[in-house]
Amino acid sequence: MGRGKFITLEGVDGAGKSTHLNCLAELVRQRGHEVVLTREPGGTRLGEELRTLLLGEPMHIDTEILLMFAARREHLAQVIFPALAAGKWVISDRFTDATFAYQGGGRQVALDRIGTLEKWVQGDFQPDLTLVFHVSVEIAEQRRAGRSGGDRFEQLDKAFFERVSTQYLSRAAADPGRMRIIDASRSVTDIQKELEIIILSI
Ligand code: TYD
Repeated sequence: MGRGKFITLEGVDGAGKSTHLNCLAELVRQRGHEVVLTREPGGTRLGEELRTLLLGEPMHIDTEILLMFAARREHLAQVIFPALAAGKWVISDRFTDATFAYQGGGRQVALDRIGTLEKWVQGDFQPDLTLVFHVSVEIAEQRRAGRSGGDRFEQLDKAFFERVSTQYLSRAAADPGRMRIIDASRSVTDIQKELEIIILSI
């Protein structure tokens, strides 16, 4: 059996990626593949502990980035690499593009510093496909307002999310073979139709 494929979902908080996670998993299963659904930060016991700290606890920006990559290293070792080697497809709710977008774009940390850690933790390994769910920051804000709670990142201001969104779009423009921008302002049905076509093409 061949290696499985690695698909990641990205976008600003409120773009709606979580809504499409299960539908995407179902589409991949219909193609006859076993699916592992996971998320970042998180995906392992240690990673979930780090997620609680990352989303709740104020910390130095370098600490934030190092913990994101520490959680990621564990996630790759325990979940992603073994599943792909066993021929399973892995779908992750966020991965390294989120660090470039949030810590790089949003918090304005130099992208080459993040790139150094990316190389250290994952070498040349990249997702086979990254779907960037894109909506205007105004729509994302309205969608977030309808939710209860909200983590440390969701409370940041509009300018922060503008920078996150811009960073996602410029990464997608620079790597069109891997990254697809999904216009997430459309209806759920329309988006699912597009996802179906994309999944059949990879
Ligand atoms: P999110 O994936 O939106 O989960 P939920 O749908 O449960 O709110 O939340 C994760 C948060 O973590 C999100 O605000 C983005 C942030 N994040 C980073 O800042 N950097 C990263 O590298 C990752 C993976 C996530």
